[in-house]
Amino acid sequence: MKEIKIKDKEFEVFIQEEKIREAIKVIAQRMNKDLEGKDPLFIAVLNGAFMFVGELMKHLTIPCEISFVRMASYQGIKSTGKIKEIYGLEEDIEGRTIVILEDIVDTGHTMSLILDQLACDSPGEIKVATLLFKPDALKTELKLDYVALEIPNDFIVGYGLDYDGYGRNLADIYKIKS
Ligand code: IMP
Ligand code: MG
Repeated sequence: MKEIKIKDKEFEVFIQEEKIREAIKVIAQRMNKDLEGKDPLFIAVLNGAFMFVGELMKHLTIPCEISFVRMASYQGIKSTGKIKEIYGLEEDIEGRTIVILEDIVDTGHTMSLILDQLACDSPGEIKVATLLFKPDALKTELKLDYVALEIPNDFIVGYGLDYDGYGRNLADIYKIKS
């Protein structure tokens, strides 16, 4: 069993690269069918989605565009906690088929915020794709159109996902050792 240490935490290999890539290929093939003739705009959420998106794009054969956004967190003016907002989107999404690409849906709060904000710009339809989904952690109502891999509610790193900024470069996905 491959094990690694990042800062104070130990991780063990959980999903091998081969299996991740195969799961991504499966959803890409579904997208090729579902989105044919729709001229979709993919919106990838950085940083976490970069490896997922790189692999996914290689298998998409339909005409499409891709744009990269970030979620910026800042403190609200009142003590209501952090506010998150999308930035970096330059394309006009009005009337378009949008597919959001995320690394992971955990509680679902981030994805719900993204959906709410994009809805303000009157897209034609919005679909959601995520590399990983933790069904047991979900706290919002969300329709996920494309899920590459469902995982239990453990903290993971690798394949784009980080622990405190580190581990994004790992080709396999690792889970925290209990
Ligand atoms: P949310 O809880 O669905 O809003 O997830 C928010 C963000 O938390 C995700 O986009 C990831 O960046 C991060 N995240 C959630 N679970 C994990 C994990 O297991 N490892 C690393 N990052 C995670
Ligand atoms: Mg993320």
